[in-house]
Order: sequence, then C-alpha cells, then structure tokens
Amino acid sequence: SSVTIPPPACMLRPLEAPLRYLFGPGPSNVPPRILAVGAKPIIGHLHPEMYEIMNDIKRGIQYAFQTENNMTISMSGSGHAAMECAVFNTVEPGESVLVAVNGIWGERVAEIAERMGANVHRMVKTPGGYFSNKEIEQAVEKHKPVLFFLTHGESSAGLCHPVDGIGDICRKHNCLFLVDTVASLGAAPIFMDKQNIDILYTGSQKALNAPPGTAPISFNERACHKMFNRKTKPVSYLFDMTHLSNYWGCDGKPARLIVYVTHYVPHWCCNVVTTVISSHVLQDLRLPSVTTIAIPDGYEWRELLAYIMKHHQMEMTGGLGPSIGMVMRIGLMGYNCEKTNADMALNALADALKNCKKSKA
Ligand code: GLV
Repeated sequence: SSVTIPPPACMLRPLEAPLRYLFGPGPSNVPPRILAVGAKPIIGHLHPEMYEIMNDIKRGIQYAFQTENNMTISMSGSGHAAMECAVFNTVEPGESVLVAVNGIWGERVAEIAERMGANVHRMVKTPGGYFSNKEIEQAVEKHKPVLFFLTHGESSAGLCHPVDGIGDICRKHNCLFLVDTVASLGAAPIFMDKQNIDILYTGSQKALNAPPGTAPISFNERACHKMFNRKTKPVSYLFDMTHLSNYWGCDGKPARLIVYVTHYVPHWCCNVVTTVISSHVLQDLRLPSVTTIAIPDGYEWRELLAYIMKHHQMEMTGGLGPSIGMVMRIGLMGYNCEKTNADMALNALADALKNCKKSKA
C-alpha cells in the first residue's frame, strides 16, 4: 500500500531562521565559532571521542562553576531539566523543603517539589525582594528542610541574590543548599566550592551563548550522600542520577547508555546596559545579565516590544510570572554584551518611546 498522507509543503522547503538581535533574557545570540561546531559530523554515543568530549565538557563546567566536584554533568534539556533533576534526586516524598520565592523561579521549584510529594515551605518576598541570612537561618531552624532553594539570577525581577554565608547556615542545620544560576552563570560571579553550594545548575542558552538544550549541573559529596542513600527511587527515570552519573562516567563504572551532548563554552562577561531601572530592585543587587525596566506611564508594554521587533529586528521581553505587566526586560548576555549592542538597544527603545505613546495606557 502507498502513503495516503502527502508530505506537508513545509517539509519540502528549506528552514528559514531570521537573523535577530536576541536582547531578551535568553536565548542569546550564539557566536559564529560556536555555531560552526554544530556543523561537525555526528559521532556515535559509544565512540571513544564521545567520552573525550564529555570529559572535556565536564572539565569546562567545573571551571565555570569553580568546583572540583566529580559529580558534574550536563543534562539534555532546558534549565528546568536540571531544576527537576536536583529536586527529584535529593528529596523524598514527605521531606521538608524550603524555597525562597521572590520571582518566578522559586515558585516553580516549590511546585515541582509539591508535585513529587515534598512538604514545601515558602519564604515569600515581592518580585525583586531579597532575603537576609538571618531570615534564612530562622526559616531553616523552623522548618528543618532537607533542601533550601535560592535563585541567584532571578530573571523575572532582574535581581542577583547574594549567596555568601548561606551554605554555612545550611551545613550547620544539615540541609542541602541548591542554587539556580540559569540566568546568571557567566554574567555574575559564583564560586560553588568556596560558597559551600551543594547543588548548582545553569542553562546553556543565556550568558554561556550556546544553543538551548543542555543544562550543566553539579553535586558535591554532601548532595551525593543524600541522593545515593534514598529509601525510594526518584520519581523520574530519565533524571535519575544513578543512571546519569553512569552515562557521564562519574560513578567509576563503564558508561552504557545513550547521551546527547552539545559543546559548552564558558564565557565571563559584564553587562554594559545602564538604563532606567525599575524601582523594585536595589541598585547593588541588579542582575548583570537581565535588566528590568519599569514600564513608563502612557505606554502599553506589548506594543513597545512588538514595535522594537518589527522595526529593529530585536527581541526584548515583558515580565515573567509575578513581574508581568510591571517591567520590560533587556538582556545582553556573553557575546551580546558589547557597548555597540547596548547603544543599539537604547536607540530602539528611544524610537519605540517616540512612536508608541498612547493618550491613555
Ligand atoms: C527565562 O527563560 C526568562 O524569561 O527569564
């Protein structure tokens, strides 16, 4: 018998991907030398060269995270994959988890932990608010969590949260310290070992300027002890660190199964955007990779963004989660972090402000 469903026309034409300035909170533009690596031949997942590449990736992540942790891998998936992997592997149903919520990412982790049956306690601030070490210690003492979660780069609010001293508090109270650096790694300094962070993860498509689809994560000895001495199996097979650590040669046994990897290029940068800052983030705690801008009176934010995309081929974004309608966000990450790009972004904003004013917003 023959096929009755013809190939769709879209499959018969070449894929179009327009050139855009990706000045939002990620993905960011990928430099040509990294894009070129994507055109290398495919090799088998069990070829010796693949293990070499994976070892190199692991060493790159150890450098970017400033850690000597052996349990350092890059997951297939977005930052959410690493987020779920961290929670699923270190927490068992019924255990107490403490989550700092001051934007969307804490809320996301709280939901993930609730879905797997953890007993979740939230410390809540308005978007862009930060938690003092004293407040954190009081909450840890009260809720006795096995895991405390903090977002280092809260991209929905434009806040870079201080981390110093929190790892020590967690150690003192026998709790693991989990830090999300998806929007900050490579843009704001973080030192996993020195800062006593037990589990750290990031994404590839932000300040690291790689394509989306892989999420570096690292676990120290304390975290490994907790996750490999569980009574129950993690709820996800795909994200079970027993398997993943084997794929990555972190368990001392021969690697067995399929792994998909992409190249990984750590890349320190600084942010050169110094535009109008929203009132809700303290100047000192601004996230260098994503700048939040208060939406000026008399403007509709969606219209500003659409105008900038249409006339300047430039992506900027609105708020996310609790910051929707409050802010616009501009990110100049890694390779994009150039003064000329900042000038271009400011020009585009100025042009949009000139042309999008409403009599009443
Ligand atoms: C992340 O994906 C963001 O929009 O901040």
